[in-house]
This record gives sequence, structure tokens and C-alpha cells, in this order.
Amino acid sequence: MVRVLVVGSGAREHALLWKLAQSPRRPQLFCAPGNAGTAQLAESVPIASDDVRALAVWADERAIDLAIVGPEAPLARGIADAFAARGRALFGPTQAAAQIEASKAWTKALLVRYGIPTARAEIVADLEAARRALDTFGTPVVVKADGLAAGKGVTVAATRAEAEAAVRACLVERAFGAAGERVVIEECLAGPEVSVLAFVDGECVVPMVPACDYKRVGEGDTGPNTGGMGAYAPPALATPELRARVQREILEPTAAALVAAGRPYRGVLYAGLMVTAEGPKVLEFNCRFGDPETQVILPLLASDLLDIVEAVVEGHLDQAPVRWRAGAACGVVLAAEGYPGPSPMGMPIRGLDTAPDDALVFHAGTRATPEGIVAA
Ligand code: AMP
Ligand code: GLY
Repeated sequence: MVRVLVVGSGAREHALLWKLAQSPRRPQLFCAPGNAGTAQLAESVPIASDDVRALAVWADERAIDLAIVGPEAPLARGIADAFAARGRALFGPTQAAAQIEASKAWTKALLVRYGIPTARAEIVADLEAARRALDTFGTPVVVKADGLAAGKGVTVAATRAEAEAAVRACLVERAFGAAGERVVIEECLAGPEVSVLAFVDGECVVPMVPACDYKRVGEGDTGPNTGGMGAYAPPALATPELRARVQREILEPTAAALVAAGRPYRGVLYAGLMVTAEGPKVLEFNCRFGDPETQVILPLLASDLLDIVEAVVEGHLDQAPVRWRAGAACGVVLAAEGYPGPSPMGMPIRGLDTAPDDALVFHAGTRATPEGIVAA
């Protein structure tokens, strides 16, 4: 029996396990660290998702055949390399290839070098250079911390003062530590956003159904940003023409550029795109499945996820069947009062087992107690 470890503890990882559990090959499933929902499908492993060394050691001891990584932090820390060093298979890019998410400056340079459509940008490391760049861009302008900043490193600044404050937060106040030592200042693009995730094995790119996610907490896309309040797939704007263009102008050239850079990519490449009047342009890449996009994409996947993931790891994605169901999926995040600010812990969550047959419930931040499942 194939033994599969999913790394992470969110609803994305719950959705991955839900899909893997449907494999006719009946894999034995583990999740590190998991949550109350994943525990219904997989054995929970009490190791933090970014403790790369401990995970590799555990996987070795427990003869794990395949690991699938949800979050970016362990990938950026080299979990793929740590597993490879022990001869353990892992689905996800090496540390070198994960730079596509971990350094916006590195990625911008790669995109520019290969003529892949993206916002015009300058990379700066001191205030003087930042001010000169802001002079040339005018407003609105976008200021981005180079490295991983838990989704908080991007400011779309309407005014010069806001832009300067964002630059200072990175370079002077060090709000993002080393992740803000360099700053990308870029042209503000306009248009609807869409995420296109793809399975990638070297130069072979197999796209998933496109999706849109929503980050603001309030009804009508208002209020503070969150880790994501919901998503749907596929959006009407993702016409066959647009999908073909994204494949031809963005995904395939990026995979080829990574191969040419000596960092061949294996795993999920997530392109965050803006559909501008000139066509789709890259806002960012992520080196992993999206959250909450995965929760609406995987229910539309007709093929066996285990087969696809194995094909990527073994280097024959071109032969793997990747078929999608017709129809659509919509995901809504239910969060505790106060989210994304401080919210009460331990509130009971009721009604989880009364969801209608065509609804799926994926957990994030939940805990099982003798009294039932609570918000954690
Ligand atoms: P990122 O973390 O790079 O995806 O950026 C977060 C959000 O900032 C994106 O989803 C966009 O809404 C916005 N954004 C990023 N870059 C730009 C840009 N160049 N122009 C306009 N909006 C942007
Ligand atoms: N939904 C955005 C992300 O996964 O980064």
C-alpha cells in the first residue's frame, strides 16, 4: 500500500486528502500537523509543517513513499532537497525552483529576461533608489517586499505618501525582516484577476481549471485582507482563448525559463494573473497549490490525483491522464467573529455533519475536543 504524507494544516490540505482518499489505489494517508478535519481521513503527525529536517527524518523512519507539500515555507526552506537527499519522493519544487515565489525580485528578472508578460518594475535596496523609481512610476504604484511576507508584503499605493510609507516599512522599519531588504516597485495594472495553477514537470505544463479567489473579509469585497474568504472555478472570463494564451505566453515559457536557469520545476506552479487590455500579465507566482483555490479546483478533477502527482515526481507527466468534470464549484470560508483580527478561541462549530450532499466541508484552524469540534 502506498503511504502518502500531506504537509500542512489548512483547508487546502484537507481538500488534498479528500481527493487522495478517493484514489482506487487506497493510499494510507498521513498529515503533518493536520487539523480536526484531516484527522478524519489521515493519521495526524505532530510535526510543524516548516520543520523540514524533522519531517524528512520522520518520513524516512516511517517509510513514506510520497510527500505532498501544501504551504510555501517548507518548500522555500528546501524540504524537496531534504527528502531527495534521503531518497524519498516529494511533490513540490526544490529550494532553487521555489525562488519563483520566495523572491519577487529574482522572478521579475527572469520574466523580463524571457519576455514573459508582467508589470514593468524596478528593484531597489535603498531609499534614494526607491524615491527615484517612485518618481518615474507616478501613482497609483505597487510596492512589494521581495521575499515571503505571509501575504502582507504588497501595497497598492494610491498616493506618493502611501508608497513611501510602504517602502520605509520594508527598508527602514524592517517590518518583513530579510524579506524586505529588497523592494520591487512596479506599474499598477488594471483588470480582473484570475489564478491559473498547473502541474509542471520540467517543460511539460498541464493546467488546471482556472479559479478566482477573494481576500477581503467583508461582503461585497470590502474590509481588511485575509488568507482568503472564498473562491470559485471556473470564472467566465477564462475563455478557451484566454486559457490558450496563458499556456502559450506565460506557463510554458516560465517552465522553460526555469529549466534554462538550471532550476527545473516539479510540482504545482501557480500563476496569479491580471487580464489587462493588452492580455494576461503575471502579478506573482506561487510554488504550490493555492488556498482557497484548491478547495474548488480539486472537486472538478475527474482523474486520480495520486496518479498525476506520481507522474510529476517520476518525470512522466506527459503520459498522465488529467481530465476535468464539467460544471463549477464555489467555496465560502466561514470564520470566527473578528477574523482576521483577534477572535475568540474554542467556539463550538455546529452543523458540520448536516451539510447537504452536494456540499463539501474542509477544515482550517479547527480542533477536536470531547465536546465536539471547536475553532482553534
Ligand atoms: P501578490 O501577493 O503579488 O499576489 O499581490 C497581492 C495583490 O496585489 C494581487 O492579488 C493584486 O490584487 C495586487 N497587485 C499585485 N501586483 C499588482 C500590480 N502590478 N498592479 C495592480 N495590482 C497588483
Ligand atoms: N489564494 C492565494 C494563494 O494561495 O496564495
